[in-house]
Amino acid sequence: MQVDLHEHWMLGDVEIRGRLVLAPMAGVSVQAFRRQGRRHGAGLVCSEMVSVAGIQHRNERTLGYLRVAPDEHPLAIQIFGSDPAAMGEAARMVEAAGADVVDINFGCPVRKVTKTGAGASLLDDPDRAARIVESVAGATALPVSVKMRRGTANGSRDCLTVGPRLVEAGAASITLHPRSARQMYTGTADHALTAELVELVDVPVVASADNTSRARAQAVLATTGATAVMVGRAAQGNPWALAQIMGSDAEPSREEVAAELILFMRETVRELGEDRATGFLKKFYAWYLGRGRFPRPFKQELVSLPTIAEVETRLLAAAPGAADVLEQLEADLPRGGGVLLDGLPISAYGGG
Ligand SMILES: Cc1cc2nc3c(=O)[nH]c(=O)nc-3n(C[C@H](O)[C@H](O)[C@H](O)COP(=O)(O)O)c2cc1C
Repeated sequence: MQVDLHEHWMLGDVEIRGRLVLAPMAGVSVQAFRRQGRRHGAGLVCSEMVSVAGIQHRNERTLGYLRVAPDEHPLAIQIFGSDPAAMGEAARMVEAAGADVVDINFGCPVRKVTKTGAGASLLDDPDRAARIVESVAGATALPVSVKMRRGTANGSRDCLTVGPRLVEAGAASITLHPRSARQMYTGTADHALTAELVELVDVPVVASADNTSRARAQAVLATTGATAVMVGRAAQGNPWALAQIMGSDAEPSREEVAAELILFMRETVRELGEDRATGFLKKFYAWYLGRGRFPRPFKQELVSLPTIAEVETRLLAAAPGAADVLEQLEADLPRGGGVLLDGLPISAYGGG
């Protein structure tokens, strides 16, 4: 059975145009990544997880994660924390920032996060997890979604008891990454659990993990009954994977790859500033230029160049036609592609 990935669905009262969601990924899901994901076919994009403590303390870098551009809607901003009241407060800020959905992280397995009682550790404390959802749903008019692991321990089926409780508490959708927190990213994700969860709740379930191709995404949707698939690592440096999952057969030319990468670099510099962007971008060079698109020594050379300007010059020399593609991409962006600080106090960014 072929599933129509272009079908629209509702997350609460927000219409999502298509059954493909771009995953939240810390250190990856900057605004440039999300906007690119939208252009290549994601129906919903997500911010990386944002610390509620950072929001509470008005930490400048944290508040930077709340920037919303006009061309990334609908956008979910994901928050993590352990205190229900503080999570509610943060949800109000997320709403004020202009997000369309507040997403709660019950999946992060990293010790730095779980030791504070946040992320996946909340799957071991369902009462608190439910209070968090209640507090967030009570604080904002936006729909609230949750993203969770199968449980903390290997083989856990806790998501099947915690999930329905979170829906009762007010969650309007659940994304399941059916690995345990202990597994981190190893072993297999067991989408049989996703199918069981779909049967237990009457809200949309989004299936996360290993949706690396159209065939896999189709199979996951067909076998689980999930409303949508989420794509994470497959889209790193490869937005074309999104279009391909949605039905395109086109492979990008070298010129298109170089042009998308340069656009991504320029937008990231505007977003993070040159200093932060220089280190941040290095992993993206290998992601974009891999998959046999450019020779390995060329990737290594780019990573070793000290400035982003030099990387851009080398890319344009290696793929001269990229300049025209880039010009067209930039012309098609709303308002010249500048980052707009919608709905947030400008002072929080020093006007940046
Ligand atoms: C680098 C990286 C960062 C991630 N950060 C987050 C995060 O901030 N919040 C979250 O809910 N999941 C996060 N995840 C998990 C992904 O959203 C997704 O559930 C997981 O990677 C499985 O999907 P995939 O096989 O499509 O990558 C992260 C994953 C990766 C690889």
